[in-house]
Amino acid sequence: MKGIGNKNHFIETVQMKGLTISLIASADQTEIIHHKLEPNTRWALEPEEGWEALEYLIVVSGELKLSTNGGYEIYKTGDSFYRSPVKEHYVFQSIGTTEFLYVSSQPVFHRYSQISRDLMNLAISIEKKDGYTGDHCARISKLSMLVGEAMGLNSKQLLRLNMASFFHDIGKVKIPLDILLKPEKLTQEEWEIMKMHTSYGRQVLEETKLPLLMSAGLVVEQHHERYDGKGYPFGLAKDEIEVEASIISVVDSYDAMTTDRSYQKGRSKEEAILEINRCRGTMYNPIIVDVFNDVKHKL
Ligand SMILES: [Fe+2]
Repeated sequence: MKGIGNKNHFIETVQMKGLTISLIASADQTEIIHHKLEPNTRWALEPEEGWEALEYLIVVSGELKLSTNGGYEIYKTGDSFYRSPVKEHYVFQSIGTTEFLYVSSQPVFHRYSQISRDLMNLAISIEKKDGYTGDHCARISKLSMLVGEAMGLNSKQLLRLNMASFFHDIGKVKIPLDILLKPEKLTQEEWEIMKMHTSYGRQVLEETKLPLLMSAGLVVEQHHERYDGKGYPFGLAKDEIEVEASIISVVDSYDAMTTDRSYQKGRSKEEAILEINRCRGTMYNPIIVDVFNDVKHKL
């Protein structure tokens, strides 16, 4: 029927980590976006300056868990949630596979989906150039969340960790290919350029102007800092390093050691764990190594 639209017809669909979003309808500065979340996927509503939109969602199947101060609320099929405007961070997590409709009075779909999709593709293209044959970014993100959750980080930190871990090496996009792909050892000068991927990563994420990615940028910039202050780019030490960056540092090393690269075979899990523990308190924050030891049976 004219004016009603086709049943089950999505105007555009985008798939991201554990999340599929589809634009159902868009008119008069309003968008209706269908979201499908795989189990245990996080999705957030965040405040943004100059953003006065009405944000509304209704669960059509499954369950969403919303973390609140000191507890949580469950949204089941048929339950709805709205804020106008959004003044705080709301982090939802799907329990099983969950679908909801999200309505916003200011269009976000294209900006949000395009940027996320471009960045994810970029991150994956970089891991391949970097010699990884598997899903390095996705694995780092999963392992980081395992450690972050065991440490009891709050939902805002977990979300930042989730993004920063996936995009930790995105700055390598600005490193000349002859350096990134060089099979031999880098010269001192080349190494100095390579180290800049940390700050480049922050720049790339800040350029998106999306608040969550901008805040993840700070973590990305610090992912090669060391607990003893001998890391880069700033030589920050101990608590000067964001906790999320300290987690990524341990997990990234573990994954790099245990993964088969195009040019070398990975070490065993046991060897990698020994190596992480050998560098406890020098390279790595001891608290995080301890938590890592506690969750390592889940790796
Ligand atoms: Fe890196």
